[in-house]
Amino acid sequence: QITRLDDYRAPDYLIDTVSLEFELDASETRVSSKLKMRRNPEGQGGPCILNGEYLTLVSIALDGKTLAGNEYQRTTDTLLLPQVPASFELEVVTLIHPDQNTALEGLYHSGAILCTQCEAEGFRRITYYPDRPDVMAVFTVTLIADAKKWPMLLANGNRQASGEMEDGRHWVRWHDPHPKPSYLFALVAGDLYCQQDQFTTMSGRQVLLEIYVDPENHNKCDHALNSLKQAMRWDEDVYGREYDLDVFMIVAVNDFNMGAMENKGLNIFNAACVLASPETATDADFYTIQSIVGHEYFHNWSGNRVTCRDWFQLSLKEGFTVLRDQQFSADMNSAAVQRIDDVDQLRSMQFAEDAGPMAHPVRPDSYIEISNFYTVTIYEKGAEVVGMLKTLTGPEGFRKGTDLYFSRHDGQAVTTDDFVKAIEDANQLDLTQFKRWYSQAGTPVLIVEAHYDADKQVLELTLRQSCPATPGQPEKQPFVIPVAMGLLSSSGASLPLQLDTETSAVDAETRVLTLTEQSQTFRFIHLTEEPVVSVLRGFSAPVKVKFERDNETLAFLMAHDRDSFNRWDAGQQLLIQIMLRMVEQYQSDKTLDLPEILLDRLQHVLDDPSIDPALVARMLSLPSENYLAAQMTIADVDAIHAVRKYVKQQIAQRLKAGFNTRYQALNQAQVYEFNASQMAQRSLKNVCLGYLMATGDPMQTQRCLKQMKQADNMTDLLAGLRLMVDQPGPEREHALRAFYEQWQHDRQVVDKWLTVQAVSDLPDALFRVKALLKHPAFSMKNPNNVRALIGQFCRNNPVHFHAKDGSGYRFLAEQILLLDKLNPQVAARQLGAFNSWRRYDAERQALMKKSLSDIAGAQDLSADVYEIVNKYLAD
Ligand code: ARG
Ligand code: ZN
Repeated sequence: QITRLDDYRAPDYLIDTVSLEFELDASETRVSSKLKMRRNPEGQGGPCILNGEYLTLVSIALDGKTLAGNEYQRTTDTLLLPQVPASFELEVVTLIHPDQNTALEGLYHSGAILCTQCEAEGFRRITYYPDRPDVMAVFTVTLIADAKKWPMLLANGNRQASGEMEDGRHWVRWHDPHPKPSYLFALVAGDLYCQQDQFTTMSGRQVLLEIYVDPENHNKCDHALNSLKQAMRWDEDVYGREYDLDVFMIVAVNDFNMGAMENKGLNIFNAACVLASPETATDADFYTIQSIVGHEYFHNWSGNRVTCRDWFQLSLKEGFTVLRDQQFSADMNSAAVQRIDDVDQLRSMQFAEDAGPMAHPVRPDSYIEISNFYTVTIYEKGAEVVGMLKTLTGPEGFRKGTDLYFSRHDGQAVTTDDFVKAIEDANQLDLTQFKRWYSQAGTPVLIVEAHYDADKQVLELTLRQSCPATPGQPEKQPFVIPVAMGLLSSSGASLPLQLDTETSAVDAETRVLTLTEQSQTFRFIHLTEEPVVSVLRGFSAPVKVKFERDNETLAFLMAHDRDSFNRWDAGQQLLIQIMLRMVEQYQSDKTLDLPEILLDRLQHVLDDPSIDPALVARMLSLPSENYLAAQMTIADVDAIHAVRKYVKQQIAQRLKAGFNTRYQALNQAQVYEFNASQMAQRSLKNVCLGYLMATGDPMQTQRCLKQMKQADNMTDLLAGLRLMVDQPGPEREHALRAFYEQWQHDRQVVDKWLTVQAVSDLPDALFRVKALLKHPAFSMKNPNNVRALIGQFCRNNPVHFHAKDGSGYRFLAEQILLLDKLNPQVAARQLGAFNSWRRYDAERQALMKKSLSDIAGAQDLSADVYEIVNKYLAD
């Protein structure tokens, strides 16, 4: 069943207040709801229809009068009341069964905790309700449960009252004064450790901060709590947004479909996205936790106070909130590193999505299952689109726009058009053409040509754009593309940026050209020497750049660009250019030629103490096999793998002395701290160790083992383990066994142990993965386990997933069918490994098609899997 944006209609009935009472129990929970409803003057009237799924109905009463079976109609997913007055009170009692809920939507249990996940459409598994984001109501929630089993009873808003009952149960009543849609509802019942803190808001209000975790994780709350305080302060400073309840709670649960959820005042987190201690979490984990804690907190304004009218507007809250969390991380850590990592992710994941059968606009126009649209396009490309609005309006203009957006729409459910309108109105701008970024899918290609005329001292820069067809969108209109650029002299100095239409030069080393036509030429004047052009600085638009540059020019930019993002990017382009040529050489059995200029440049980068070690680490990291594959018309998995390995070994041999020196200098004992400088040091140190191991020198294996033995933090320990696992031999097995023995009690660490084996290079990878499915540490019902083992194997182990005998494909198909019976959202996610199936050779395509057809042909597929598998097969 397809839902379409064009079919949107205002709700026929609105709800002013909701009062819910839960008699909680794992096997049967009784939900009594009281809705004060009234006809919407903007609706069509007619029957009152509520959503509801997997509910056992006990009773319905309208204005106090119990309805007989013939006074309402039910289907598997609706309840219809044919005749209702203009305003009325509806009381419904239903039963639900948390322990049968393996989909993890609605009310379910994770270990001994009872918790909820309602976004996008999980509330309808709790009670009958108009489960759509444009129906906003004030909620009062009473939770009743056994006082011993569930001493903590949490819901949204402020705690209002509580008491004991004679039968050993207790109750707590919560009231949330802010009207909200049902998807932001949450409750938690558990026996949990609670760590508290305080925050004073900018207007002087005291807010109680609480993190609830399983008791054994009591020592893993500090980082999240710190991150929360940083986020609260940052949102006040940068966006003028203040928190609005007496308490802000975070709960960690082990079974969760996504990363975390911004329920009003009661965020629920995947334990892996909130718990951290230096011994058990890597720098990357600490970093992600800070950003996700920020992300969910920022939703309080961008999502909760101002919410989405319908699910086509999902990027209204997600794109904007991702931009906000990226800005936050950049301010808390290193802005340059943040940008590089964000763009790296966008290019490898989102560009692939945009080039495949699931390509969709930032504001999609139809879906079968909305859960399938929590995508990198909605989130990451959505963030880039809002980021371009910021580039076009400048930091102050953008802030004026967001201020207007928040004040104009506070308490409303709105659209991406409303967001753009606020930016327009605050800046007296016309963004009509810009809005194509919301409606057109696909990654635009920016073609750049530069021509220097020495006589006239003029540089002609021609920018052209095109965008490939995507499903349902054969033709595209030109986008508005902000192109940040600069010009460099042969010594690396910035050259003046004056166009022939201007009377004076722009007094900055970067300026933004705005491309609005299919093709435009810009003439820069007064240039006494031929400049080197640096385009798309800071990745000012989510486009692919086509700009022919030889190795020397790229090497020059890698050394001299004023923009650190573009220095990194020039290095990546150079590596890609060289490695793709080597792939051709490999395919035609020629000797592999690794140009000296690359080794020379990398040597300089490694030896330059003035570059931030985190940037050095990234500049020395080779593009991933998947990303290289995406650059080829027909991806050659084996050639890419061989070439990448060869390049790594060559760099390792040639720069061995340098890696050695830097490793030793960076490998200093220090007390673990989460900060940009320590993270930078550890990241470079472990990149050096990786290259040293690639030399094949047995001494380096000893060094790696020593690092593992001495490590007091998971970053260094795991880096060592990863490297050990790619080396055959008894040390490898020993390292894996010792690691498991030490950490088997810790779920987050065990997931890392699964992943290390899933992404291993060695020939028995799939065999191991299959064996691990039966290991006591693995459960198919736990989404983190599934992602760590199956997901990592299929996405990050391309040589083995794409094995020529089709074994990887068959494996994934089997697992998806098993998963679909338990948890459709998780099953559908795993299908993503087949996204680029059309880009492989004929034999592999045939094998993937067979596996996809096996899935499509199975009985009783969920809507989630059905939608994706059929879109893939239609390509
Ligand atoms: N709104 C959440 C976030 O981005 C994601 C929740 C998605 N849930 C889902 N079932 N698809 O922070
Ligand atoms: Zn979000």
